[in-house]
Amino acid sequence: VRVLAVASEVYPIVKTGGLADVAGALPLALKAHGVEMRTLMPGYPDVMRMLGGAGEIRRWPDYFGGPGRLLAGSHDGLDLFVLDVPHLYARPGNPYVTPEGVDWPDNGVRFAALSRIAADIGHGLVPAFVPDVVHAHDWQAGLAPAYLHYDGGPRPGTVMTIHNMAYQGKFDRTLTSAIGLPAAAAFDVHGLEYFGGISFLKAGLQLADRITTVSPTYAQEIQSDEGGMGLGGLLRERADVLSGILNGIDTDVWNPQTDPHIAYRFGAEDLTFRAANKAVLQQQFSLDSSDEAPLLGVISRLSWQKGLDLLLEAIPTILGDGMQLALLGSGDRDLQDRYQAVARANPGRIGVVIGYDEILAHLIQAGSDALIVPSRFEPCGLTQLYALRYGAVPIVSRVGGLEDTIVDIGEANTSDRDPTGFKFAPVTVEALTGTLRKANTAFHNKATWRRLQLSGLATDVSWRNRAGDYAVLYRDLMAARRT
Ligand code: ADP
Ligand code: GLC
Repeated sequence: VRVLAVASEVYPIVKTGGLADVAGALPLALKAHGVEMRTLMPGYPDVMRMLGGAGEIRRWPDYFGGPGRLLAGSHDGLDLFVLDVPHLYARPGNPYVTPEGVDWPDNGVRFAALSRIAADIGHGLVPAFVPDVVHAHDWQAGLAPAYLHYDGGPRPGTVMTIHNMAYQGKFDRTLTSAIGLPAAAAFDVHGLEYFGGISFLKAGLQLADRITTVSPTYAQEIQSDEGGMGLGGLLRERADVLSGILNGIDTDVWNPQTDPHIAYRFGAEDLTFRAANKAVLQQQFSLDSSDEAPLLGVISRLSWQKGLDLLLEAIPTILGDGMQLALLGSGDRDLQDRYQAVARANPGRIGVVIGYDEILAHLIQAGSDALIVPSRFEPCGLTQLYALRYGAVPIVSRVGGLEDTIVDIGEANTSDRDPTGFKFAPVTVEALTGTLRKANTAFHNKATWRRLQLSGLATDVSWRNRAGDYAVLYRDLMAARRT
């Protein structure tokens, strides 16, 4: 099976969140399942720098308003197509926003261009790689199934994966013809039309052959009006082609036995070495050095989704119960400021680093006692999976992929799986603080805590089996399209 994946970010080349981790790890895991995947991404400056040796396949004098090229190359075992269109992608900073943090005004054109070339590769633009399936990730790739649909004629199968329902790629309806779609046909409730404008995500969900999202629980949640964020009705209608496939993680990048980014490497047999990482972590966050104080870690985008405003309100509990907090995050200005203020007011107890730091993220997983993820919604979530692999006990809200990947300490008798952490519901300050207290008590019972850590370490969080679910999906889709 040949699959063209389309993603706007791919680890280790460009990353703003979990999508990059998934897009970077899934192709490698699919090899074992006989799936040959190539990934198409935009030629941002970092991509062009890292793919210096990529070869040119095609060139256009005018691609959406300026010269463009399609390149093929590889990096770290990933086979890539790169769409090099300098007037769209050769810009500083983040893939989506200006250095001032506002969306690039031409994002609609930028990501339409990406999907247009995906559809062309789908039609056979590159004879050496004619895909059986085009797999679009998130709104940035949402028009790929739409172009393939409206182009007419034979086409590969299409899969649309939702990593986050909150980002829908909404634009003005006038864009439709500007990006080369038949305005009359495409501006339609059964096409791109969405509350009077257009939505790239909606187009993909409407027109792809199959829809997936990144956990079974999120697949249910998004079929409700609230969880669907405007697209619940569409997803209920298409429930027969919608499924949830849990994310895995790259267990080579995230391996406490070989991790070059942590102070002391360790495995399940020598968990006591975590104490040395904890000491280094406390130093780096200017926290009091104490083995006895439970150290809570957070690695997160600071946005409404992640519920970190609730954690701010739980700070009195953290302080009152003798716990420490090390938070690494960036995002909303207001949250950044409030966390920095709390850190200033509580030196030695609350440590905050505002920014994006891949290396520090590894150290937090290796050195904190518990990792907190209090999300209001969470399609899958990856940091709790890294935590399981590093012996940090996850404390999570009972939503989406968090519900599916963590077994609560109270489920010992009702589940055939060993408990690996703490889950709270509803997503309120009261439920969160209650669970923090419970975790604090469990922490001071060494045997209980060790059991949680060990069952976390024994949990299979790799892509091995989950990639197999995608392989089955691709093959089913091909079989269905032949008949
Ligand atoms: P989301 O994609 O919604 O942000 P995930 O949990 O799926 O959430 O993935 C987040 C990814 O980004 C993880 O790999 C996490 O370690 C990383 N990450 C998030 N914030 C930071 C940060 N400030 N510094 C370093 N890594 C971060
Ligand atoms: C999104 C979601 C996150 C998920 C990630 C990768 O950014 O917010 O829950 O883990 O995509 O699928």
